[in-house]
Amino acid sequence: MKQIIAKVISNTRILKELERRRALKRPQPRDVLGSYLLWLDCPELTPKAKPGQFVMVRCGGKTILPRPFSIHQVNNKGNIALFFAVWEDGKGTNWLSQRHIGSKVELFGPLGVDFSIRSDSRNLLLVAGGIGIAPLYFLAQEAVKKTRSVTLLLGAATASQIYPKNLLPSRIKTVITTEDGSAGKKGRVIDLVPEFIDRADQVFACGPIPMYREMYLQRRKFLKNKPTQVSLETVMGCGRGVCYGCTIKTKKGLQEICRDGPIFDLDDIM
Ligand SMILES: Cc1cc2nc3c(=O)[nH]c(=O)nc-3n(C[C@H](O)[C@H](O)[C@H](O)COP(=O)(O)OP(=O)(O)OC[C@H]3O[C@@H](n4cnc5c(N)ncnc54)[C@H](O)[C@@H]3O)c2cc1C
Ligand code: FES
Repeated sequence: MKQIIAKVISNTRILKELERRRALKRPQPRDVLGSYLLWLDCPELTPKAKPGQFVMVRCGGKTILPRPFSIHQVNNKGNIALFFAVWEDGKGTNWLSQRHIGSKVELFGPLGVDFSIRSDSRNLLLVAGGIGIAPLYFLAQEAVKKTRSVTLLLGAATASQIYPKNLLPSRIKTVITTEDGSAGKKGRVIDLVPEFIDRADQVFACGPIPMYREMYLQRRKFLKNKPTQVSLETVMGCGRGVCYGCTIKTKKGLQEICRDGPIFDLDDIM
């Protein structure tokens, strides 16, 4: 796949507080130093980009392998936005957070399978846990363009980790929840689902694995068996189905998250 050299238009830290996160292969939670909204000029990519797809970013020689990031937004000027969390010991995300206006970033994409909105779905329920808003933003934008009604449940641990409401797409209904009650309703984002599920024709979620596990185990009660698509994350090698580093077991057999996903039906995940 062709490499794209994209110019940085802006790179803004929009969430400033530290967040404790449990890394995939580490027993101890680690800090996220902040979350950035990075706008890149790459007109080669925007016409092909679909919600749920991702790009692989080469982090300037700081990492051997490129790093995957969801396409967060696309505009009609040939620009894409990434929304990413910076891990305290993450070489790639630290490097990306230091890119200034005018600097160049090498990437390739769009990659992977996109979210699919059914033709008969009128009301969409989007469930975003923390940085999970990254791919759902683009989906919300596209859904509104297609005259769907969108309700976004947006959750985080505390108020300072909530994506700024004024930056969210207009014409969607947003319900905020924080675990400590410092903004919106108190509790986990997943606890809000039963309140909104009856009106939803389809559910789309992006969040941590334990959130999916709970959604899966309680899908009859929580989701009333409404069709649900989720975006899966893992550490990736090549991003294009070559290294098998992102293989998972599904009900359809072994699949690569980068090529067969990252969007999967919740029912298919084991
Ligand atoms: C399809 C896909 C889309 C993604 N989209 C986004 C996005 O839009 N925004 C965003 O912030 N992140 C996203 N990620 C996660 C992102 O790719 C990683 O956070 C990033 O690669 C970390 O790079 P690093 O070099 O800074 O850290 P590394 O040095 O690679 O890792 C530092 C630590 O973070 C852990 N880690 C790495 N990747 C993950 C992960 N996916 N989940 C949990 N722990 C991890 C590692 O185990 C390691 O301990 C996505 C991942 C995938 C697979
Ligand atoms: S990351 Fe290499 S096959 Fe998916």
